[in-house]
Amino acid sequence: MSELKNDRFLKALLRQPVDMTPVWMMRQAGRYLPEYRATREQAGSFMDLCMNADLACEVTLQPLERYALDAAILFSDILTIPDAMGLELRFAQGEGPKFDKPIRSAADVNALGIPDPEGELQYVMNAVRTIRKELDGRVPLIGFSGSPWTLATYMVEGGSTKEFGKVKGMMFDEPQTMHKLLDTLAQSVISYLNAQIAAGAQAVMVFDTWGGVLTPRDYKEFSLRYMEQIVAGVTRENDGRTVPIVLFSKGAGGWLEVMAETGCDALGVDWTLDMADARARVGDKVALQGNMDPSILYANPERIEQEVKIILESYGKGNGHVFNLGHGIHQHIDPENVGVFIDAVHEHSTQYHK
Ligand code: CP3
Repeated sequence: MSELKNDRFLKALLRQPVDMTPVWMMRQAGRYLPEYRATREQAGSFMDLCMNADLACEVTLQPLERYALDAAILFSDILTIPDAMGLELRFAQGEGPKFDKPIRSAADVNALGIPDPEGELQYVMNAVRTIRKELDGRVPLIGFSGSPWTLATYMVEGGSTKEFGKVKGMMFDEPQTMHKLLDTLAQSVISYLNAQIAAGAQAVMVFDTWGGVLTPRDYKEFSLRYMEQIVAGVTRENDGRTVPIVLFSKGAGGWLEVMAETGCDALGVDWTLDMADARARVGDKVALQGNMDPSILYANPERIEQEVKIILESYGKGNGHVFNLGHGIHQHIDPENVGVFIDAVHEHSTQYHK
């Protein structure tokens, strides 16, 4: 077992006792940091940055140099899998992701293969290996993937969408085609996450950013079911330690109970729930990760600190809380305010762990 100097994050995900509440932020390596913008400029494009293990490692570690974070997250993107499947991902300046070859028909779906994680996706595994070496046991490294449903939304729409017309069109009119696509994606995600774990990821998270655009019934059939498949297929023990798995469906607070039944270790919670309610609803089945509104980081330091205290109090005493934002940090946040936030979590949480 490799040495880990700070294992608060892994312990909290497994609902074991800790001295203070661990904290990290979704999108912690990103455009709000001037040093990130500089490295991205140096790399040329966002995908070039993801594909260069040394630069991906550099930006992964940047937020850890500034803040007392309890975890690092692999710098990459969820859209690496569809890109490796041949959809040709581009990040057009200011426009978000685009696929030159979207998936529109049963023939397109049948032509998809499962990418080889040490082949087309080897650059991701190389980044994991480089980051683990550079971290040298400071904090655990989180690996991640998109959920099958969330990946399908980008693959069928050909990019970001507000209406989900094409992907829901396929779901309603050709459910068998949609299930075939989701099954191929679930198998790809399992192999991708297992390769990240073999390369050194010490916890994994599944981002289901668009699970909340489905009805509760469609969510179970088209999103949750495939995340269950992933939970069942992912390696849960490596290098003498449990590898926790976290599921995060944004906007899915209405059906937290069914998510807690998947066998995952923890659920990500967005800011639309009170932590006290979320905790009461999942009982001792899973840990919870969340859930400060990222917009609070625009407020003054006193207000940020107050919000941290409210959320800590809402979760209450005992094990199983990982502090995070309810979604990714925004690009126009002042980095100083992030320091106030991280320090406040540690300072005010010790009383909940006595
Ligand atoms: O959390 C981290 O720090 C790790 C890195 C990470 C990125 N994307 C880097 C990134 C992670 C975990 C993701 C996940 C991701 N990517 C999700 C799921 C999580 C969520 O936020 O809901 C989704 C939906 C994507 C797809 C994606 N990637 C979009 C829609 C965009 C454009 C966003 C925008 O605001 O322009 C990206 C690009 C992206 N991924 C950036 C970063 C830092 C910004 C790219 C840049 O530097 O220009």
